[in-house]
Amino acid sequence: MNPRDRLIVALDLSSVAEAEAMVAKLGDAVTFYKIGYQLAFAGGLAFAETLVRSGKRVFLDLKLHDIGNTVGKGVESVAKLGATFLTVHAYPQTMHAAVDARKGTNLRILAVTVLTSYDDADLAAAGYDFTVSELVAERAGQARDIGVDGLVCSAAEAAQIKPIVSDGMVLVTPGIRPEGADKGDQKRIQTPAAAISAGADYLVVGRPIVAAPDPRQAADAIVREIAAAAE
Ligand code: C5P
Repeated sequence: MNPRDRLIVALDLSSVAEAEAMVAKLGDAVTFYKIGYQLAFAGGLAFAETLVRSGKRVFLDLKLHDIGNTVGKGVESVAKLGATFLTVHAYPQTMHAAVDARKGTNLRILAVTVLTSYDDADLAAAGYDFTVSELVAERAGQARDIGVDGLVCSAAEAAQIKPIVSDGMVLVTPGIRPEGADKGDQKRIQTPAAAISAGADYLVVGRPIVAAPDPRQAADAIVREIAAAAE
């Protein structure tokens, strides 16, 4: 894979106008964008179609979870937007419904095993009798058996998950910070090079690019680091 196509820039912005300005600034330095709740619910779904028509790839980070029928119908609509990746929570019913509904389209389903803001105490409070590490492993195995296309995981989890998932499954890793970058609210961060070495296929990067004084230069530097680590 071209190292540039392994970088996904998170458009965590509050309006389509801001997102358009950022995409124009980044130009051909970035080929893949992630749209989450904030932008999706502020006109970002129509903007996703515009991005796809302009030749970019789009990851819709909507983390779906509902009864199977509702998930399936939602996935069919997302596929029509032309998105490449869509996230769902890694519950077996939800994953089955999403994988069935994406058949015959170009959409690929990514499962979120356990949210990275959860620790063992949060899982216990939510009624689970598993540690984070046990539940991540359990759900990664279920995702593989159901035929999910990939998983979102922290770079620290990538090495644990890689042996569980099948060869064709992709690992998509947020929480990326180049050496010396501001951590923000991310706790378990890795550099681009470390994430690639741990087995990540795609890196999701938001603030280190979007909030940089020169976003294009920041994106180019990360692509160079991906290329060097992938050699
Ligand atoms: O700005 P930053 O690089 O921290 O952005 C990371 C992006 O990845 C954000 O859009 C965040 O919501 C998303 N994400 C994450 N951790 C997860 C899943 C998604 O940081 N486990």
